[in-house]
Amino acid sequence: MCGIVGYAGRDRCVEVLMEGLGHLEYRGYDSAGLALQTEGRIERIREVGRLENLARTIARRNGDLSPLRTGVGHTRWATHGRPTEENAHPQLGGNGTVAVVHNGIIENFAELKEELQGRGFRFRSETDTEVMAHLIAERVDGGESLREALAGVLRQLEGTFAVAALSAGEPGKVVAARHQSPLVVGFGEGENFLASAVQALLGETSQFLHVENGEIVEVTDSSVEVFTPEGEHVERESFEVDWEAEAVELGGYRDYMLKEIHEQPAALGATLLGRIDVDGAVDLSEIDLDFTDTDRVVVVACGTAYHAGLLGKHAIEKLARIPVEVEIASEYRYADPIGNESTLVVAISQSGETTDTLAAIQEARRFGAKVLAVTNTRGSLITREADAVLLTKAGPEICVASTKAFACQVAVLDLLALQLARARGVMPEEALREAGRGLRLAPEKVEETIQGLGERVGEAAAVFEAARCSLFLGRGISYPVALEGALKLKEISYLPSEGYPSGEMKHGPIALVDEYCPVVAILGDGVVREKTISNVEETVARGANVIAVAREGDRAAQRISGVILPVPEAPELVSPLVASVPLQLLAHHVATDRGLDVDKPRNLAKSVTVE
Ligand code: BG6
Repeated sequence: MCGIVGYAGRDRCVEVLMEGLGHLEYRGYDSAGLALQTEGRIERIREVGRLENLARTIARRNGDLSPLRTGVGHTRWATHGRPTEENAHPQLGGNGTVAVVHNGIIENFAELKEELQGRGFRFRSETDTEVMAHLIAERVDGGESLREALAGVLRQLEGTFAVAALSAGEPGKVVAARHQSPLVVGFGEGENFLASAVQALLGETSQFLHVENGEIVEVTDSSVEVFTPEGEHVERESFEVDWEAEAVELGGYRDYMLKEIHEQPAALGATLLGRIDVDGAVDLSEIDLDFTDTDRVVVVACGTAYHAGLLGKHAIEKLARIPVEVEIASEYRYADPIGNESTLVVAISQSGETTDTLAAIQEARRFGAKVLAVTNTRGSLITREADAVLLTKAGPEICVASTKAFACQVAVLDLLALQLARARGVMPEEALREAGRGLRLAPEKVEETIQGLGERVGEAAAVFEAARCSLFLGRGISYPVALEGALKLKEISYLPSEGYPSGEMKHGPIALVDEYCPVVAILGDGVVREKTISNVEETVARGANVIAVAREGDRAAQRISGVILPVPEAPELVSPLVASVPLQLLAHHVATDRGLDVDKPRNLAKSVTVE
């Protein structure tokens, strides 16, 4: 998805914009550009492809851009028009006196464009953004300030967007606004910043302010002013983000995915800290919600967060005995869902920005549900739509494929299950505490798993060398783990992979099975283990090469598989977290063996903030 950075301050504008865009690279993009104010003009530089291309072009300017103090930068993920230099942002309006960068989609751009063309405007790009640039420039040329012009144009636009603009006639000032897409202001000394995500600015400041829907913000080196669309001043408290800047650096790992897999024990520790004591008693008093009348839970989420929701269903149903439905947010929002004030809707989103998840919350609000957001991003859009928030404390997740955020989402849902169970009094206190003490072991059990895998991941990855597809099988709590394992593998290695409940495999997917379709079996524990083993035997009989996620020395696993990915014995709530680790590392290994960029898989973005 696109990224925005803005700056007003000292003669380090280019450096700040490029660094900030670098920190947003993980979101995915296909071109990049800057617009800078210079002596009553706007200087624009754009390049297709990686930021390095833009950096090279800047370097060729022999430092003539270095003294400049005000500007905006953008990484573009193509929506309207191909990834070309003409379509890259910033887009200029009028005769180059206004520059605009924009995230999101302007839904009524075609009508607006036709109308502008009818009035003689010439378009140089295929983007929806250029429409906005011309509309703003026209108003500025007519005597409005940049802020007034932006406010006027926003009234004409439909869709979701965050936008930042410069006018050659207003030196030292960046003006920005948003509708549904995120935008934050960062505070500095003698300089101020703008960005579409706090990650862009972590090296610069920890003090941020949110721009709300419809508001307009004016940023100069010495002031940040927020206005309503009608031009009235808004007072807003800033907030602090306690993520370390180093958290977005690689720190010796070959890529962010590997770093984030290894950060899981620490992330889980931070997520559980203060919420569960040594005795296993859970305290979620931070969420000011009364669960006494909750008779149904609906989880809404996308992608990996949806899989975390499936695991949450197991925990909540087992411990709290409340029925849980887990819905894909993009389906739920259009499903005319049923519910009432006793329904608890849990919206899970690492970024807190995913459009479908936000829309699903709005849908739930319609019937009066209580909404609890589970997110990794303090102050994100989702937190402002929800009645209460449970933060995962995974730290910034850069790799597109989610790993540590997933683990923390599962842990938070387990905490919620324990809290709900206690509120409803459906389980003896001691049994709940025992489950709680088990959950406290998550960080160490995940660490033990990572340490114990060693060479096995490479051996398992070798099985995929000639593969044309793969099947991930599990039952019970191992089924969501299988789904997540298959998603990880397909999204970063581009190998078609299916996650299936192993008992259902014979009703279709078994047709895929042969020596070129490795089967990854998550054996799990309890009543379904033997059943899973029998299901896997059927694939062995059809020539499958099997990789088993099982305990080291497990006889049945040895019989049915060529490679065991060993996992330690773990308490029930922790076992899916432990079983996910080898699958994350396996996907990473298969993708890197294929020479692929695991952090930025093709066609994917970290969170999808357009429809
Ligand atoms: C996808 C990402 O596009 O968005 C997944 O590739 C992620 O990794 C999904 O799980 C949902 O994102 P979020 O931020 O709402 O959890």
